[in-house]
Amino acid sequence: MFGAGSRGGALTNGRAAALAYARAGAAVAVVDVDAEAAQCTVDGITAEGGSALALAADVTDEDSVAAVVDAAVEALGTPSVLHNNVGVTVLGAVDSLSTADWERGLALNATGAFLTCRNTLPHMAAGRGARGDRERVLAGRGAPHRLPLPGLHGGQGRSTS
Ligand SMILES: NC(=O)c1ccc[n+]([C@@H]2O[C@H](COP(=O)([O-])OP(=O)(O)OC[C@H]3O[C@@H](n4cnc5c(N)ncnc54)[C@H](O)[C@@H]3O)[C@@H](O)[C@H]2O)c1
Repeated sequence: MFGAGSRGGALTNGRAAALAYARAGAAVAVVDVDAEAAQCTVDGITAEGGSALALAADVTDEDSVAAVVDAAVEALGTPSVLHNNVGVTVLGAVDSLSTADWERGLALNATGAFLTCRNTLPHMAAGRGARGDRERVLAGRGAPHRLPLPGLHGGQGRSTS
């Protein structure tokens, strides 16, 4: 799960979802750009007897995402759920929004979701011996094999199984 970190035990969306997965019996790869935040969520999971691994990655950096997915698969096995919780709401009308803020929104909401899907779904599909999952996920906001733009319209924070 990407963006699952928390600070000071605060019940963020990411922490709440990670706890829910763990309570359902999943071993959770808790990924966040903030390594301490990832560890904080893992501590919450293990404190109640769950299983989790803290990992640090930036969802906008492909090498970072690929490395953390490999580490999660190595430690926990084939993933069955991918949850992207990383996203940002960038406020501003088209005539007032800065290009920097526009690009930040695209990077976190669109590129981040794309990179986490692209690097995780092949493992999920291989584990099931099928490619249907990838098609279903990438079709989340459109047709199979067409460019998805999750997050641009508030579509972030969804899980995929
Ligand atoms: N909070 C809400 O009420 C709410 C409501 C509807 C939709 N959403 C959407 O849900 C998503 C998550 O919201 P939230 O409130 O949980 O956000 P949040 O900022 O509290 O949590 C996001 C987590 O992602 C991490 N993160 C930030 N940048 C990252 C990066 N580049 N790589 C990896 N991790 C990174 C942060 O450290 C943080 O732990 C957003 O897209 C938001 O728009 C939130």
